[in-house]
Amino acid sequence: MWKGLIEEYKEFLPVTENTPSLTLNEGNTPLIHLVNLSKELGIELYGKIEGANPTGSFKDRGMVFAVAKAIEDGAKCVICASTGNTSAAASAYATRAGIQSIVVIPKGKVALGKLAQACMYGAKIIEIDGNFDDALSIVRQVSETTPVKLVNSVNPYRIEGQKTAAFEIVDSLGHAPDYLCIPVGNAGNITAYWKGFKEYNEAKNTGLPKMYGFEAEGAAAIVKGEPIANPETVATAIRIGNPASWKFAEAARDESGGIIDSVTDEEILAAYKLIAGTEGIFVEPGSAASLAGVIKSVNSGKIEKGSRVVTVFTGNGLKDPDTAMNVSTVDLVSLKNDEEEIRKYIEGIL
Ligand code: F0G
Repeated sequence: MWKGLIEEYKEFLPVTENTPSLTLNEGNTPLIHLVNLSKELGIELYGKIEGANPTGSFKDRGMVFAVAKAIEDGAKCVICASTGNTSAAASAYATRAGIQSIVVIPKGKVALGKLAQACMYGAKIIEIDGNFDDALSIVRQVSETTPVKLVNSVNPYRIEGQKTAAFEIVDSLGHAPDYLCIPVGNAGNITAYWKGFKEYNEAKNTGLPKMYGFEAEGAAAIVKGEPIANPETVATAIRIGNPASWKFAEAARDESGGIIDSVTDEEILAAYKLIAGTEGIFVEPGSAASLAGVIKSVNSGKIEKGSRVVTVFTGNGLKDPDTAMNVSTVDLVSLKNDEEEIRKYIEGIL
């Protein structure tokens, strides 16, 4: 039986005898061969389904370890800023471990499912008239002078936990892929994957991918080379104008020979519909930024035909039902509670 990340990867993590064995059995997520899109794009494309984690996003990988280390340090309360997924993971793991959680979120800009999670897992939720960058700046300062442990990805244990996804990809494929495509928000995850690929390559000679990160165009600080005061995108998960791990993301790009590019909201929503409609995989809009980036890169020749590509689907589509219903063009067919009428309708569409 899968024992969760801390137990499974302890030789690669700074685990001590005092690290509690916290887990919700996170990790071990599917790597799915996207057969239909592979054919369409002329590449060998796989999706890493991070929405299959216990709270529905990749954040669980970093949070299980950050919360465990916080407890090892004697913390009784964790705090984070969040566009939604970090708050869900922080509150779930804090509750599981029997400590408090406080989350600071941008008012009106957190997808419904994520907000529901934080409410149900029992976080103290503070919403502000400001964006994620404002919230992060506040919690960074508050955590310096109050006995609350900061669990945003500026906490190095978050990166440690999240790097394990790279290990799983390499184990599934037998080798690193040619390209690793990933959405970029606060830039912690691209930092973590690159660390994971490098460490596994050191230990097992498994090769290195080119790291391709994708920001939403209205929040593309790294691409534009300057912070964005008022980031805007339909992909609220990555609505971030001043990524904390900016320099590490650039290092991942440069060391791997990769790129950091932007994709428009139109491209994100097209990819969002495409992945659900062609492969049966429902991801949240922020996650679709990586597939939008794959498509853009194949079309521009930045990913060559025949390449082996892994795209990271960071969060589950159920997190954001409002966006799904807004973009869906499906009309519900309302019929009488009558077998004959329904049979006629069905025969008509076959
Ligand atoms: N995809 C999803 C679904 C996310 O929730 C995030 C970040 C990212 C991608 C980007 O990852 O920040 O490591 O570059 N969400 C954070 C949050 C900011 O608060 O949940 P990153």
